[in-house]
Amino acid sequence: MDEPAGPRALEALATEDRRFPPPAGFADRAVVSDPGIYDRAERDLEGFWAEQARTLQWRKPFTKVLEWDLPYAKWFADGELNVAENCLDRHVLAGHGDRVAFHWEGEPGDSRRITYRELQDLTNRCANALKALGVRTGDRVAIYLPMIPELPAAMLACARIGAPFTVVFAGFSAEALASRIDDSEAKLLITADGGYRKGGIVPLKKNADDAAARARTIEHLLVVRRTKQAVPWTEGRDVWWHELVDAQSPECPAESLPAEHMLYLLYTSGTTATPKGIVHTTGGYLTGVATTHRTIFDLRAGDVYWCAADIGWVTGHSYIVFGPLANGATSVLYEGTPDFPDKDRWWQVIEKYKVSILYCAPTAIRTFMKWGAEHVAKHDLGSLRLLGSVGEPINPEAWLWYRKTIGGGRCPIVDTWWMTETGMILITPLPGLVTTKPGSATFPFPGVKVDVVDESGASVPLGGAGYLVIERPWPAMLRGIYKDDRRYRETYWSRFPGRFFAGDGAKRDAEGYLWLMGRVDDVMKISGHRISTTEVESALVSHPRVAEAAVIGREDLITGQAIFAFVTLRSGNEGSAALSLELREHVARSIGAIARPKTIMFTPDLPKTRSGKIMRRLLRDIANGVALGDTTTLADASVVEMIRSASGSGSED
Ligand code: WTA
Repeated sequence: MDEPAGPRALEALATEDRRFPPPAGFADRAVVSDPGIYDRAERDLEGFWAEQARTLQWRKPFTKVLEWDLPYAKWFADGELNVAENCLDRHVLAGHGDRVAFHWEGEPGDSRRITYRELQDLTNRCANALKALGVRTGDRVAIYLPMIPELPAAMLACARIGAPFTVVFAGFSAEALASRIDDSEAKLLITADGGYRKGGIVPLKKNADDAAARARTIEHLLVVRRTKQAVPWTEGRDVWWHELVDAQSPECPAESLPAEHMLYLLYTSGTTATPKGIVHTTGGYLTGVATTHRTIFDLRAGDVYWCAADIGWVTGHSYIVFGPLANGATSVLYEGTPDFPDKDRWWQVIEKYKVSILYCAPTAIRTFMKWGAEHVAKHDLGSLRLLGSVGEPINPEAWLWYRKTIGGGRCPIVDTWWMTETGMILITPLPGLVTTKPGSATFPFPGVKVDVVDESGASVPLGGAGYLVIERPWPAMLRGIYKDDRRYRETYWSRFPGRFFAGDGAKRDAEGYLWLMGRVDDVMKISGHRISTTEVESALVSHPRVAEAAVIGREDLITGQAIFAFVTLRSGNEGSAALSLELREHVARSIGAIARPKTIMFTPDLPKTRSGKIMRRLLRDIANGVALGDTTTLADASVVEMIRSASGSGSED
């Protein structure tokens, strides 16, 4: 494991002393305005979360709150509830059936307004269709859909009948989809004919066919018609959504499910080539995401909330689907990219729907900075009152630009730190209470306890940097890695026994503010997307001309990190621009376009330790052009010089 990255970033942050207290008018009306919430949760953690859990609707009330058998937690274990009932029926019964759940905006400009009643109807029909296709409580369902209303409806339909689902981001390849289907043993795959991307069509059905052919367990494909082009069809196996779902009854009883029933699996990259299936369950997860969504985004009546992530990532699960719907929020759901048809699309959407809360990633903000404020200035963003950031560290310049240019200087910013494994936001300001500093995620959420520790696990004094650990369980925490107890214990609980090791470096300043500094393991963050270096390496090595590869994340002004691959070819091959292009495409085909290396550098050798381990840290320093650290453990020091003198000859986009 490497030491926390970015000493230069640290120096920059050390000088950041601007601070922004909550605006007076904001604080007075905030959902949380009593600072006593921190003490209350600290004094009585279980009481605090039980109170939050009771804001949900339980079929069978819980009597136990937390059972902690390290490293496995159970929350509200003897209670029973249903997630879809909490996200839909509850609001309809309370008289909010006509409230908009989603203002859906399609990429080509088509749009749909979906009320809570309509979403309930769609969900129930889909749930009945799942049953008609043989899906029962406990069976797994894979979902590979673009950002269309059928996606949240399919997730909720699974939740309604208790079939754990796994959503696979529609940008992933057939191969990536197949491996997730195999691991989860899904029997049904819900997909679409295609998805729109910048005016073109992504052939989702074709990818789904390839994946289903490779995977062992798929019995049926349920296919939404979105793009309407001709698609291959397997009679008997494939079923059109508009034929089967539309014909179903809009009534479907919600199963009463134990709080610890598995709600979904979400595959995420770790430090090996195989993604891990993160397990999330029902009662604690819904409590965690509903509470954090309401309090951190300060959700009030009349708000229009927009989380611009993709539902294929955890941010979309927790803060497009489950948190907002549990809270009865009105959200925007947008299918496309920020620059289609023009670079002002987001601002147009905000003006059109009068969005009041925007939640997005620093990469997007930096991209908008690069495109220039003139695109923003074309639209009235006066409806905005709160801004959020997630997925990667936000640099102070981007934070300040976000505040001024998007937020008009009046909107508080919540920089929210969390991960797929945590299920919910863990480090964040509460916008009515906490004075923010640009670039700092500030403090843990009430009841959450973290520490910053050194190699030995000792707490680092204020002002110091180290590894971020989480000290006690929280309701939305993962319940393990699917079918892999050993990997779960090793990955998160062995580095600092008894404490959850997040994999991030962090600094705590003199006032205790937390500054997240990025991953300290072999996980990269490309535009906020999590990709493992080893996954890209193994894709490269699977190419017949590649002997060896080492992949690192190189600092990038826009995407945070960009994929930089050092490649050694098998003898008899020469590096060339054409081969570089071929290798980059090869990776995109085997994982997905998000994993396509930005730069490939051919090198005759790679720096290794005497025991044969590739020294990625050295390569990272070379790629980033910083002074090299300790090279004394190198088996052959001349390799570094060779690579250094060759660097700059890498080929890029
Ligand atoms: C990073 C995304 C700095 C971090 C929700 C973490 C952040 C990884 C922040 C998890 C933030 C997320 N500041 N870094 N506000 N939020 N990260 O699983 O490195 O896709 O470990 O979940 O994103 O990525 P994941």
